[in-house]
Amino acid sequence: MGRVVVVDHPLVQHKLAILRDERTGAKEFRELLEEISMLMAYEITRDLPTEEVEVKTPLATCKCRMLVGKKIGLVPILRAGLGMVNGVLRLIPAAKVGHIGLYRDPETHQPVEYYCKLPPDTGERELIVLDPMLATGGSAAAAIQFLKEKGARQIKLMALVAAPEGIRRVQEQHPEVDIYVAAVDWYLNEHAYIVPGLGDAGDRLFGTK
Ligand code: PRP
Ligand code: URA
Repeated sequence: MGRVVVVDHPLVQHKLAILRDERTGAKEFRELLEEISMLMAYEITRDLPTEEVEVKTPLATCKCRMLVGKKIGLVPILRAGLGMVNGVLRLIPAAKVGHIGLYRDPETHQPVEYYCKLPPDTGERELIVLDPMLATGGSAAAAIQFLKEKGARQIKLMALVAAPEGIRRVQEQHPEVDIYVAAVDWYLNEHAYIVPGLGDAGDRLFGTK
């Protein structure tokens, strides 16, 4: 079974508390989401392979470690996942970015796909799916399924706030996928919104409500 890692670093928790606050406006929301994503990227890349290299400093030659150069792909789920891309790219600038457009049907809560553009070598990359909200888990599970059908073999999921139901769904459908979150909240309400959550992430990010 894939791991569920709750990134409980004080900086992440502090920034998430401000992000949740209903008084936080779109500009600050965007900045905080980017910062938290960067901090979570530090954790999600912890197991990247490194190799020994020799480095000549002004004083001596020493053995150091550098990344082996594993190919990474970021796959934000539109729209809200877009708010996480720049934060992760600041730490992994060589990553390629694919996009999957999904929206939740307001009646059925089922994900509906409307866009997809992935790097041509998607199957060779370690992929990180980005979406701040893991509610029913339908969107994340569908995106991961889609990536597998395109040949992806190594996939991690980075969310910000998860409901227990969403974690269960991804674990059931994709048991090998590691899930990184900043918080696991209480439950889903009758509209399948996460409680306490932070509201509609896409709307808060882009000021559409
Ligand atoms: C939100 C969120 C996730 C999805 C989570 O997107 O960003 O993609 O809902 O819900 P689920 O786990 O129940 O599938 P939404 O459909 O509101 O689209 P948007 O990002 O374009 O606003
Ligand atoms: N999508 C959101 O943006 N927020 C939720 O709480 C659930 C789905």
